Amino acid sequence: MILRVAILISGSGSNMVALAQSMRGDHPARPCLVLSNDPAASGLDKARDMGIATAAVDHRPYGLERAAFEAALLRPLLDAQPDLIALAGFMRVLTPEFVAQFEGRMLNIHPSLLPKYKGLNTHARAIEAGDTVAGCTVHEVTAALDDGPILGQAHVPVHPDDTAQTLAARVLPMEHRLYPAVLRRVAMGDRSLLTIS
Ligand code: GRF
Repeated sequence: MILRVAILISGSGSNMVALAQSMRGDHPARPCLVLSNDPAASGLDKARDMGIATAAVDHRPYGLERAAFEAALLRPLLDAQPDLIALAGFMRVLTPEFVAQFEGRMLNIHPSLLPKYKGLNTHARAIEAGDTVAGCTVHEVTAALDDGPILGQAHVPVHPDDTAQTLAARVLPMEHRLYPAVLRRVAMGDRSLLTIS
């Protein structure tokens, strides 16, 4: 049985591309939708070029009405009948009610070694803290932000002269290795921790 994977993005979608490119051949999953909260997200063009169905629900008209936005987001998402959902550079915080509908079936990649540095500006915070190792984490999405069971982590060295930009540039390629590897394991029924460096 081929699992259907919906990928949610907000921007360039480099993680979405890595995930989509990995789901080929004997991989037990295929992308069924790329969905964005920004109709202008360049990742949508990349998805279309790869022949993947796309949809966009602009979050801005909903203002602070988070539940209303999520109700609109849910329509194309459920229409795609995903077995798994991968948040990939998706920059909207989802309500516990939304997440609860996909408990155990929603993954996210976060650019820090969780549980350190939940939230934003992760690389700057790691540098500020004087960390010598940084990286990224793939985890199950739960009601609490950046807090679910960890499925994979990738480690990179922090250099003394690093800026947030140079560290991000070192972490991003590791995201593109880690996320596809974790997704394949989850699609095969393996949720054991994967660590790469
Ligand atoms: C990445 O650093 C990812 O960890 C974070 O968003 C950034 C951009 O991701 N969540 P992408 O290029 O849009 O996949």
